[in-house]
Amino acid sequence: MNQEINELEEGILLDQPDVKAIYFSPTGATKAVIENISCGLNQNNPIKVNLSNVEERNNFFSNFEHFVDSTDFFLIGLPVYFGRIPGFLIEHFQQIDGKGKSAIAVVVYGNRGPGIALNQLVILLNQCNFKIVGAGTFIGEHALSSVFPIALGRPDEHDVSLATEFGAQIYEARDKLKGIKGEDVPGKLDALLRITPEKPPKPTVHLEKCIDCGLCVQSCPMGIIDSETKLYKNKAAEKLCLGCMSCVKVCPQGARSVEFSSPMKYITGKLFLKEALNSRKEPFTLLKNT
Ligand SMILES: Cc1cc2nc3c(=O)[nH]c(=O)nc-3n(C[C@H](O)[C@H](O)[C@H](O)COP(=O)(O)O)c2cc1C
Ligand code: SF4
Ligand code: SF4
Repeated sequence: MNQEINELEEGILLDQPDVKAIYFSPTGATKAVIENISCGLNQNNPIKVNLSNVEERNNFFSNFEHFVDSTDFFLIGLPVYFGRIPGFLIEHFQQIDGKGKSAIAVVVYGNRGPGIALNQLVILLNQCNFKIVGAGTFIGEHALSSVFPIALGRPDEHDVSLATEFGAQIYEARDKLKGIKGEDVPGKLDALLRITPEKPPKPTVHLEKCIDCGLCVQSCPMGIIDSETKLYKNKAAEKLCLGCMSCVKVCPQGARSVEFSSPMKYITGKLFLKEALNSRKEPFTLLKNT
C-alpha cells in the first residue's frame, strides 16, 4: 500500500514540474499570459514571483540561489515599453546565475509592436546562464486603453488557448529542446521609436476624489508615491515613473488618470498608434527541437 502511495506521489511529482512564474505586470496582462503558459506546462499552481511588487522583487533577486535548485522551468514575462523591456530590470537580472536551468522568455505588448524586447530578454537571460527553451510575444490590453481603446480584453480566449498550447508544446518536447539565442528572435525598432525619446505618460492626480485607501501607494512598482500626499515623493521620484498605469488602474475613485491634450491625443493616435488601433496582432512563439 505504502509503495503504491509512493509511486503515485512520484508520478504526480514527475507530471507536475516545479515552475516559477516570474512576471513584471503593472496592469495584469503579462501575469495572465504567464499563468496560462504555466497551465500548459502542466502546473496550474506555480510559485509566483510578482516583480511589480518592490519587496517581492528585492527578495527574489537577493535570494535567487534559493530558488534555482528545485526549479524545472523559470517562466519569465515582461511588458514591452517603447519597443523594449523595462530598462531598470536589466541590472537586477544581471546579478543572478540561472545555472543552466530551463527558462521561457515572454514579452507582452499592447498591439503596437514588440520592437526589440524579446531579442533583449533572450540575450539577457542567456547572459544570466539560463537555457532558453521557449520564447514568445503575446498581446495584452494597452496600458493607455482608457484613452486609446487598443487590444481591449486581451489576452482574450484565443490568446489564452495559444498560451496554454505553447506551454504544452514545451512540456511535451522538454527532453529534446535546443537553447534559443538572440539571433533566433531578431527584433526591430520602427523609425518612430528610434527617433522618439522614451517619455512615459505621467498620471494626473485629482486629490479631491481621493479617499486615502493607499492602493496606489502599494501598487506602484517603483515605490515613488508618497503615502501622505499621494503625489510623487519628490522630483527624483517623478523621474523614475514608468507611466505603467498601475496606480491608475487600482484607484477605486478614478482619482488618478492619464490625460492627453486634444492635439497630443490626435497626433499620438494618428502617428504612433494608428495601426495598433485598427488591426489585430497575433502571438508569436518559438521552440527549437533537436
Ligand atoms: C510607457 C509604455 C510604453 C509602451 N510601449 C509599447 C510599445 O512599444 N509597443 C506596444 O505594443 N505596447 C506598448 N505599451 C503597452 C504595453 O506593452 C501593454 O499595455 C502591456 O500589456 C502591459 O503589460 P502589463 O498589463 O502586464 O502591465 C506601452 C505601455 C506603456 C505604459
Ligand atoms: S506612479 Fe508611475 S510608476 Fe508608479 S504606478 Fe503610477 S504610473 Fe506606474
Ligand atoms: S488609489 Fe486613489 S483613492 Fe486610493 S489613495 Fe490612491 S489616489 Fe487616493
